[in-house]
Amino acid sequence: MAAAEPAATMNVLVIGGGGREHALCWALERSVSVAQVHCAPGNAGIAQVATCHIGVDPVDGAAVVDAARAVAADLVVVGPEAPLVAGVADAVRAAGISAFGPSADAARIEGSKQFAKEIMAAAGVPTARYWSGDDPQAAVAALDDFAPPYVVKADGLAAGKGVAICEDRVTAVTAIEETMIAGLFGDAGNVVVIEEFLAGPEVSIFALCDGDDCRLLEPAQDFKRAHDGDEGPNTGGMGAWCPYPLDTETIATLERTVFRPVLAELTRRGLPYVGVLYGGLVLTDRGPQVLEFNARFGDPETQVVLPRLATDLGLLLRACADGCLDDAPPIVFDDRACVTVVLASGGYPGTYETGKPVEGLDTIADGDAIAFHAGTVAVGDEIRTAGGRVLAVSGLGAGVPDARAAAYAAADCITFDALHRRDDIARHAATRAHPR
Ligand code: AMP
Ligand code: GLY
Repeated sequence: MAAAEPAATMNVLVIGGGGREHALCWALERSVSVAQVHCAPGNAGIAQVATCHIGVDPVDGAAVVDAARAVAADLVVVGPEAPLVAGVADAVRAAGISAFGPSADAARIEGSKQFAKEIMAAAGVPTARYWSGDDPQAAVAALDDFAPPYVVKADGLAAGKGVAICEDRVTAVTAIEETMIAGLFGDAGNVVVIEEFLAGPEVSIFALCDGDDCRLLEPAQDFKRAHDGDEGPNTGGMGAWCPYPLDTETIATLERTVFRPVLAELTRRGLPYVGVLYGGLVLTDRGPQVLEFNARFGDPETQVVLPRLATDLGLLLRACADGCLDDAPPIVFDDRACVTVVLASGGYPGTYETGKPVEGLDTIADGDAIAFHAGTVAVGDEIRTAGGRVLAVSGLGAGVPDARAAAYAAADCITFDALHRRDDIARHAATRAHPR
């Protein structure tokens, strides 16, 4: 006999207003354990599955606590990194409300690359060899210990722009000077990390963590460059697909050698980690190596992971928040593949215009395609663009080719002025036995 279905008793407040938060709200709305889904501030798409609270500043802990109390939230799920680094999860927990998201101190695993490297070294996690420090001269001297291409990273959060991959030493010295002396990334560049270049496909793995226990979700792959063929500037992500085919043994090894040791090291330092630990990995010819950790779900990877998740997301996140992941139901994924295509404003990740009417959304009904809103606003009856990434259109199918076809067929129905997208998301995955 199946276990009794949990009663829909939980009110959940999601913090954020991008495509990731739309996917979270969409999955929570489908969770049997969840009675009401609220989102602050939300966006025009999120408003279709949750009650949006647009006046709430997502990085203001006191405002988030007030909003959580006003809606009798049993659980607050913090989506983006900025509120985490600002201590919003701490504020919620201090108010006696369950929070899914790490403390500001633990979120430093994303907020400081030097801190992440220290944790990885202490935990014995496979990662690129590195140097870090705050003295520009010493940074230049440290280049001698590395070979081209040189990787120079600003320590702090720099909106995804703080990493320079430099083909030669002169370019690397310029990157060090721009970061540390000219202040291109402000205080985020006071310290730099120089590290070995890792070659191979990149994969994103999310671990749901309750402080000392964790469970891994199936791997996804993100397409970070703006243009087809992995050309152009880095973006937040122009598309993704899931599941990336890593065998179960490799995933079990990663859990044992990467995620659990990091959780144990954070706990040892008095920083128990609750929330998603996002491992960005490179599959090198000497095995998987960790490129970075993020303290949150990936965007747009969430838009391909959650549509495949068959388990009640509300129960999983609540169990993490309450430190009892052991009691949560097993994680089960749908066999179908999922591909998402980001529709961006022309010019993104540089400057772009907003306020453009979005046409064609009503042709997509939840089925094998879902239009997750990333940067949209409702103006009267119209939906308009309001950000760089506007929508992430996800398609599901029996395999990657079908999922890809569903995503692009739906994406083809949507138009707005100066729309930019990539046409090659998951193309290789759909045509080759081994991707990229
Ligand atoms: P990050 O901001 O750390 O995510 O870096 C942005 C992107 O730069 C990554 O997604 C990689 O594509 C690339 N990158 C960063 N570090 C390295 C590295 N050590 N080796 C190769 N590529 C890297
Ligand atoms: N898609 C990459 C990230 O969320 O950081």
